[in-house]
Amino acid sequence: DLMREALGLKELEAALKERLRVGRVVVVAGDSDRFPWVKKEMGRACVARMKERLQPGDVVAVAGGTTMAAVAEMMTPDPQLSGVLFVPARGGLGEDVENQANTICAKMAEKAAGRYRLLHVPDQLSDEAYASLVEEPAVKEVLELIQSCRMVVHGIGEAVTMAKRRRTPPSEMENIIARHAVAEAFGYYFNEQGDVVHKVKTVGIQLEHLPHVEHVIAVAGGASKAKAIRAYMKRAPHSLLVTDEGAAKALVGE
Ligand code: F6P
Repeated sequence: DLMREALGLKELEAALKERLRVGRVVVVAGDSDRFPWVKKEMGRACVARMKERLQPGDVVAVAGGTTMAAVAEMMTPDPQLSGVLFVPARGGLGEDVENQANTICAKMAEKAAGRYRLLHVPDQLSDEAYASLVEEPAVKEVLELIQSCRMVVHGIGEAVTMAKRRRTPPSEMENIIARHAVAEAFGYYFNEQGDVVHKVKTVGIQLEHLPHVEHVIAVAGGASKAKAIRAYMKRAPHSLLVTDEGAAKALVGE
């Protein structure tokens, strides 16, 4: 903590909380846009906060993305995590396998010596196929576990970057751009005001569920995500934000 004080991180956290009007933020040193190891530091900070909040037997829903992959990588076993069950937050969002919530969920559980359940729902489904799949007992059971989670941990992305990474069809891409989306989190796209302007259709956690989840942790850093973080946090002032100095400084306008 003395080190964090010397680096001015405590002050930066206070300034960021005020600027974003959110209750809790953690800022790690560095800018993950410039140095990849900073993502791991966010991962380490996130894991520490998860362990403070989790109790044996809890269900944790985890999202995908490279930042969440870093959280999984930094996970370690802990008595607090005994019997914790990891589940993906939502079904397929068009990510490559290494960035999918299923992959990250399994890896995190393995590192935590915990348990996991996966969600096998393809990305592009017709309405009928979708409706019958969510009635499948095996899928239904995992969806119920997701609904019962005590914690959600997720990333935040820049909207157009995410839409491109997911190879979003042109018509949807047009909508995302025309409606000025700047942020993306678990399949929802938000404008600068924090309003939802587009949504990827999939199963699992929906935005409306979040206020009912006891602990929600958002992990996102890098100066390039400043706008996205600001927009998304308007929507989630009660979430804990784990970020880095690069994003924090851009946000407080240094
Ligand atoms: O697609 C999953 C997801 O968590 C998105 O909701 C989010 O915008 C993105 O990944 C963040 O990815 P990264 O951490 O690689 O920037």
